[in-house]
Order: sequence, then structure tokens, then C-alpha cells
Amino acid sequence: MAEDFVVTPWEVHGVIDYAKLIERFGTQPIQPELIERVRKIAGDVHPMLSRGIFYSHRDFNWILDEYEKGNRFVLYTGRGPSSGIHLGHMLPWILTRWLQAKFQVKLYFQITDDEKFLFKDFESLNDAKRIAYDNILDIIATGFDPKLTRIFLDTEYIHHMYPVAVRVAKHVTFSTTRAVFGFEHSNNIGEIFYTSMQAVPCFLESIEQGKNVPCIIPCGIDQDPHFRITRDVAPLLGFYKPALLHCKLLPSLQGFGAKMSSSQPETVIFAADSEKETRRKIGNALTGGRATLEEQRRLGANPDICVVYANYQYIFEPDEDHLKVVHDTCKSGARLCGECKAELADKVVAFLAKHHERREKARDHVEEFMLRD
Ligand code: TRP
Repeated sequence: MAEDFVVTPWEVHGVIDYAKLIERFGTQPIQPELIERVRKIAGDVHPMLSRGIFYSHRDFNWILDEYEKGNRFVLYTGRGPSSGIHLGHMLPWILTRWLQAKFQVKLYFQITDDEKFLFKDFESLNDAKRIAYDNILDIIATGFDPKLTRIFLDTEYIHHMYPVAVRVAKHVTFSTTRAVFGFEHSNNIGEIFYTSMQAVPCFLESIEQGKNVPCIIPCGIDQDPHFRITRDVAPLLGFYKPALLHCKLLPSLQGFGAKMSSSQPETVIFAADSEKETRRKIGNALTGGRATLEEQRRLGANPDICVVYANYQYIFEPDEDHLKVVHDTCKSGARLCGECKAELADKVVAFLAKHHERREKARDHVEEFMLRD
């Protein structure tokens, strides 16, 4: 039987059933009690958590237990360099920034130039590196705290990374990576080794402090397979298992199930898009609207299949009450897609204008964030 949807770190297609993915991956859903616990400790809850955009976890409870005992955690996330950073890439960064600010904890930010080279996104390692430094401007522009953030490229921070990577690699058999990722004989051996590089930052703070430090990784759920392997290996090396917070993937502007692809610009809004491009793309987005105006007024539209509404929900409408107004007036037919698109475009344009400004400022501050070998 053909699979209905596929989610791996390198391939996502089909309409993703997120509840099924929790079962397939063996993770835990984020329940209301956990959200309330965060609210109690942090003072409030980020909308991405309360709305179930970050919807799955491993051991987040334990991270909070330790925190309440006075045992602070570190954050870890990462990015494979890509020439088009888009809004979907920024989702985990936004929550990570919020966690860093609320809990005042250190963040390790891994840039996997090796990964993107090995998996053929780049012809040369130098291209991967050049794009990595460009992406770092977007990362800094997200608003991380320079005193608490350590960004590094795998190929540059390698003296620190490699000894840990080989220790991990010794415990991961080819059978395991093949079972987890579906590798075949034609995969290059760098690809087979790569998970051990993505595992390393989970342990960097423990190594630096000379004692075990809990680590939590906010990431897209597609990255979980790497960390399933990491969690099996961690205790064998004497480390804590990393905890995880998984988010859903921002849907393509061309509809849930359509592939989000940097090579098809109409499917995504890039961090670098101009106002004109942003407005055009949102104007062309697939909504849950009816075929005619008359029908929509009479029958209402469907926000649940609308990617414009999804953008409100995921990022652009922090106000719970207004989100509900959008939802209800869409369903009743009082609100038309054109209004929703125009409002969303205004919000995205304002968000990106601020981002572009911060990105320019970031150019002079890169070294403050970099971890050097
Ligand atoms: N593999 C990720 C990507 O392709 C990059 C990455 C490395 C990452 N470490 C991570 C992502 C930790 C999330 C969390 O973008």
C-alpha cells in the first residue's frame, strides 16, 4: 500500500496526519496540564504552545522538574544552510527565542554545512559555508540574546565536535540508521555518519560544565528521527537524554499537502521577500473559500483547510480573541477571503520590514554570537 504521507528530515510530502505521526515516532502529545505548568513557571505561554503548533514532546515534564529543582537546562536547535530562509524555518526559532528570554538559558545553535553538502544541496562546501553566514544574519535577526547564544558551523567547530561525534557513532550501527532513515547502498558514507554530528550539541554544555546538564531541542517534528537515535546513545555515554519540543510544519501557501519548496517561490514566503512579492504570494494563496461570492456569503467558508488562516494561527495573530473573530466570521460568511488576505499581508509585511532592519544591523554583530574552535 502506498504511504499516505511521508515525514523524514529530508523529505516531507502528502497531507500530514500529526496525531498519527506521534504514534509513528512514539512521542508524547503536549497536554493542557503541561501548558498550564509552563504558564505557572514562565508567567505566560507562547501562542504556539497554547494553540498546539508545538504539539508534541519528549521529556519536557522532566526538564521542568529539573528547572524547579534549580537545575537549569540549555536549549539546542539548528539549521541546515539554505539559500531561502522562509517563514516555516523560523517557527522553531521564534519559540526558542521565547524560551531563552523566559528561562534565561543558554542556546546552542548548530549550522550543518556538512549535512547540506553531503545531502547534495550544495555542489561545494564553500557554497554551503557562504550561505551559512548569510542564514546566520536571519538567525540573529530573530532576536536571540548574544550573551546566551552560541552559533557554530559543523566544519568550523570540528575540534570540539569530532571527539563527541565518534563516541556517538561507535554506538550507532548501519542497521539502525537504515531502519530509521531508509538508507540504501547508494547513500554516501557521510550521510550515514551524519546523525552523530547532529547529536553532539546535546552534550556540549555537559562537557563544558563537567557535569550533566539537561538539554531541550525545539524543532520541526521531521527532525525527531535523529534525536531518537541520540536518546538511545546518550545514557551509554553517561549523558542525559535530550528532551524535545516538536512543531508542526507551516503549510505551503498552495494548500495543505502541496509541497513547500524553495524552488517554487509561490509556495513560501521567504525572509528576504519584498513587500510586493509578499502581497502577490498571499494574494495567490489557497483559502477555504467558496467558488463564488454569493455562495460564500450564504454558506460560509472553511478556515480549517485555509492556509491564510493557518498563517494567522501559526505566527501572525497573537491575539486569541481576534483569531476567534476571524475564524467565526469566516465560517458564517461575513468575512471574505480578500479581507483576510489583505490583513495577513499587512501583518507579514510589517514583520518582514522589522526583520530586514534587524538583519542589516546583525552584520556588525556576528562574532558576538559565534562559538569558535
Ligand atoms: N538537520 C537540520 C536541518 O536540516 C539542522 C539541525 C541541526 C537541527 N541540528 C538541529 C534542527 C537541531 C533542529 C534542531 O535544518
